[in-house]
Amino acid sequence: MTVESPLTALLQEDRAHLVHPLHDAADHQPPIVFVRGQGAILTDADGNEYIDGLSCLWNVNVGHGRRELAEVAAAQMEQLAFVTNYAGATSEPAIKLAARLIGLAYSNMRAVYFTTSGAESNESAFKTARFYWKVHGRPDKVTFISRVHGYHGVTMAAASATGMAAYHKMFAPLVPNFIQVPPPYPYRWADYSGGATDGDVGLEAADVVEQAILREGPETVAAVIAEPVMGAGGVIVPPASYFPRLREICDRYDVLLVADEVITGFCRTGAWFALERWGVQPDIVSFAKGVTSAYLPLGGIMLSDRVHAAILDAPADLKFTHAATYSGHPTCCAVALRNIDILEQEGLAARTAVMGRRLLDGLETLREHQAVGDVRGLGMMCGVELVEDRTTRAPAIGLGGKVAAEARQRGLFIRNRGGVGGAYPIGDTLCVAPPLITSEAEIDRLVAIMHDAIHAAAAAS
Ligand SMILES: Cc1ncc(COP(=O)(O)O)c(C=O)c1O
Repeated sequence: MTVESPLTALLQEDRAHLVHPLHDAADHQPPIVFVRGQGAILTDADGNEYIDGLSCLWNVNVGHGRRELAEVAAAQMEQLAFVTNYAGATSEPAIKLAARLIGLAYSNMRAVYFTTSGAESNESAFKTARFYWKVHGRPDKVTFISRVHGYHGVTMAAASATGMAAYHKMFAPLVPNFIQVPPPYPYRWADYSGGATDGDVGLEAADVVEQAILREGPETVAAVIAEPVMGAGGVIVPPASYFPRLREICDRYDVLLVADEVITGFCRTGAWFALERWGVQPDIVSFAKGVTSAYLPLGGIMLSDRVHAAILDAPADLKFTHAATYSGHPTCCAVALRNIDILEQEGLAARTAVMGRRLLDGLETLREHQAVGDVRGLGMMCGVELVEDRTTRAPAIGLGGKVAAEARQRGLFIRNRGGVGGAYPIGDTLCVAPPLITSEAEIDRLVAIMHDAIHAAAAAS
């Protein structure tokens, strides 16, 4: 009789009972059972070590194994497991975290509503934008404009704002009043703009948003939602001209600007919040992920003065009837406060700007491989786009998954954004966003593994 190892038995149960996000039996082979993390290193059940090349899901900003975050969670749980934050009740961690966030964010921000995920943050942003216009006597402003390749989460409205067809196909019909425009994507803008371009992709891509607002009718548009740097869609970094022009356009037509900073917040791009880099202030900020460095789930929206005022001043028959059980969960908020201490004390915004440069410079050397079409990034958030042909920029589709698999075998865990053809093509893009504390030696090793993995995958194709 053969005796199954505990690991084999565990994986049988995984197959039998666990539905994974993006469930795909082939993609799940072979699954890695991760058991431990320390700093930027993950360890699996067989003792193999991997550089955590995506901070798990762009969220373990301060790295793994921070005992003080576990301690603060335990202390809060012992003191008060949970309390509602519904009007009429409150708790110290939620109050303190809201105040702390407002001190760190754009100077026009005034108040925070807490959620437990990025998708729920975006749902809250959409509802708050509609609420704002209704309070202002403009109930027809209900439409949202987002960008092709944007990712905003799994819930129906967030999925409707998401500009990745694969996330729509099996779940349609989507929520009405969500429309998408092409993103500021320098590498492929000539195609995306129909060939006409004078070279300032940032201005031209912002003007496409203006055209959409005019086409829809400004009196019907509630908000534009945009990731400062598009993450899951392929790490698309906008030219510096894009967001300042987009802000002007939103102001011109009375349209709110929602910054989806679920990835870019909490120092990921080398600033506390990414639009700081271009001197732009949004009206609503969605955040999640890095607020707790993933030690517990927490998200939220930050509201500017005027949006907050709409909630405060709303007449009795127009109340903000938006709520969730775990809004302001005390343990999550306590962990977030300690996580922010770490980000501050270790100077991780400034460090990320420097180490992000080292990472991007290293990844730039991948251009020596014929399959690499573009390398881009901001802070610790980089993408390596693969092509079939460098001259035509025909997207590579399938190679990225093989590179990620080769990288895994060599001790680097990264994700591939699968490429697509069609009207808005993008090649397989390897997403690289290690924890903000990753050492110089680890960054250099990550780059070296990427070289080997691309070489091996291309040679086998
Ligand atoms: C920019 C952005 N917004 C929203 C989300 C959704 O966040 P969550 O998965 O926590 O709902 C994500 C997740 O990756 C994201 O990258």
